[in-house]
Amino acid sequence: MSLPAFIAALDLLAADAPARIGAAVDLEAWTEVRNALVGRQSGRLTDIMAGLGALAKEDRREAGQRANSVKVAIEEALAHRHAELAAAAPKSGSSFDLSMPARGRWKGAVHPVSLVIDEVIEIFRELGFTIALGPEAEHAWYNFGALNFPDDHPAMDLHDTLYLGDGQVLRTHTSPVQVRTLQQYPPPVRVLAPGNVYRRDFFDPSHAPMFAQIEGLVVDEGVSFADLKATLSHFARRFFGSTTQTRFRPSYFPFTEPSAEMDVQCGVCSGSGCSVCKQSGWIEILGAGMVHPAVLEAAGLDSERFTGWAFGMGPARTAISRHGIPDIRILYDADVRFLDQFTR
Ligand code: DAH
Repeated sequence: MSLPAFIAALDLLAADAPARIGAAVDLEAWTEVRNALVGRQSGRLTDIMAGLGALAKEDRREAGQRANSVKVAIEEALAHRHAELAAAAPKSGSSFDLSMPARGRWKGAVHPVSLVIDEVIEIFRELGFTIALGPEAEHAWYNFGALNFPDDHPAMDLHDTLYLGDGQVLRTHTSPVQVRTLQQYPPPVRVLAPGNVYRRDFFDPSHAPMFAQIEGLVVDEGVSFADLKATLSHFARRFFGSTTQTRFRPSYFPFTEPSAEMDVQCGVCSGSGCSVCKQSGWIEILGAGMVHPAVLEAAGLDSERFTGWAFGMGPARTAISRHGIPDIRILYDADVRFLDQFTR
């Protein structure tokens, strides 16, 4: 290319540009014009400048200067038009769609079962309890034997167990953490053991094959059933409200003697009877009892010297009665329309 041809192309562009820029009626059109004139990909100026290298060496300086002044002029005109269009845009409404729906803000929510677990832990933490954890794939001895389930005892039928082989089971309750804790830490022991447990159950409105439990354990010298009742009643009032009534009914567990179940007055009907409490006015919250001497001995403790009490509760059950949830499966469906409703 010769210098005159190069300059002619620049002149043509410079002559053409103002009218095209002025014809841009909105910011979208302005963007198109800018790209067509000075865009780095396919702008006309870019195309012309690509011919610089083909010019004779002594012409390049002048060609470059000319090209640059055209560029500056075009950019000034573009900036000027942009300011005009931007000032006019809100009035014309072209860049705002007022009918567009607002975007929802997604906040994370805490699962209702996790909320119960967190609150229970907080209440017992105030009483000096710490957290203990154990494995979900557990040795059958910890799950049953050490907890005073004899091999052929009908109590074993209470648990439909998932066996893993090699003497391992998926733990059917969090009670094995009692034994593991006592083996590891000398009394006084005050622990809470939250975790998942497994049973050979099908999902139905009140059962799930996996669910959470919270185990509690207190072992020391001179611990009595009065400590159990006082502590668990205090817990119920802190958790369900300061006027909450509790009652203890005799029960049976192989690993406690004596054993009890604690009910609280139904919060939905205040005890008058409703579908949540099956017309009884009471909701069963937990199983508890004095730790059986055989369990203390299995963990290597002197059962003449030490006594203790324990409890186990199901936070899913608690969440269900707290919120009047009709079907336990809703807790495991991961449906955000349900889960979204729970906040601390
Ligand atoms: N492990 C029992 C179960 O899964 C619950 C339980 C009852 C735990 C009484 C305890 C207890 O610590 O004292 O059904």
